[in-house]
Amino acid sequence: MLVLGSANADLVVPVPHRPGAGETVLGGDAAVLPGGKGANTAVAAARLGAPVAFAGAVGADQYGDLLRDSLTSAGVRTDHLRTSARPTGLAYITVTPDGENSIVVSPGANSDVGDADVDALTWDGVSTLVCSLEVPVDTVARAVAAAAAHGVRPVLNLSPVVPVPAGTLALLDPLIVNEHEAAALAGSPEGLLALGPRSAVVTLGARGALVVTPEGTAEVGAPSVDVVDTTGAGDAFAGALAFGLSSGSSLVEAAAFAARVAALSVTAAGAQPSYPTLDRVREIG
Ligand code: RIB
Ligand code: NA
Repeated sequence: MLVLGSANADLVVPVPHRPGAGETVLGGDAAVLPGGKGANTAVAAARLGAPVAFAGAVGADQYGDLLRDSLTSAGVRTDHLRTSARPTGLAYITVTPDGENSIVVSPGANSDVGDADVDALTWDGVSTLVCSLEVPVDTVARAVAAAAAHGVRPVLNLSPVVPVPAGTLALLDPLIVNEHEAAALAGSPEGLLALGPRSAVVTLGARGALVVTPEGTAEVGAPSVDVVDTTGAGDAFAGALAFGLSSGSSLVEAAAFAARVAALSVTAAGAQPSYPTLDRVREIG
């Protein structure tokens, strides 16, 4: 599997409530954790046991080292992770006691992931490409087209939501969005197929996910868990879904598996540090 997307250092502060305009809130101790939607997706899939390569960019700074270490220790190949002249992407994250987060991202080096990075990719042995959108959409569009040209299945986690060219949408199998994004983009989960993708998956948080294909819509559930931190749960879902697909599961089976992985990820703090191994997923049935 190949993942193209962002890598950020997450500067995480637990807060009693989110600050309003002009307000100062005193929080708990800060943590600096490896994150970014792309790197999170790669680490989630690798921790489950998939062979994964990550394509993206970090800066020549301590945060770049943090990301490289996290990817490498999870077993992700980093030969397509470039060191850019710009600083490593940073995400400023507050987490409230209910486990919900608010995030401000400074993309830095992620803005610099471009055509040359896509053209340098190697596709031998790759069955699935997973992209997300904290890197330029033109780069993602080029990567999706290259994947399709090499017979590789393109998956896009449309997070954060940006306008995507129709020609890119038409190649996706699936397009992944959350329920709010599905409502904003298409009015309904079924409406997503009118945007062009071959299939769509709508994540429903604690309620699991919907799988939408021309044959119909299937719902998959999620185990109920104690929520500690939902940061990166969507990225865990995307990585686990792609792991399932590249191991030969159907889209519905892969989505059901991904919903369990995402549920486990919210039971521990942070994004990458909270992602489970396959053994841990099997423990919950
Ligand atoms: O999806 C969670 C991620 O969003 C965090 O790790 C943060 O880096 C932001 O990219
Ligand atoms: Na988590």
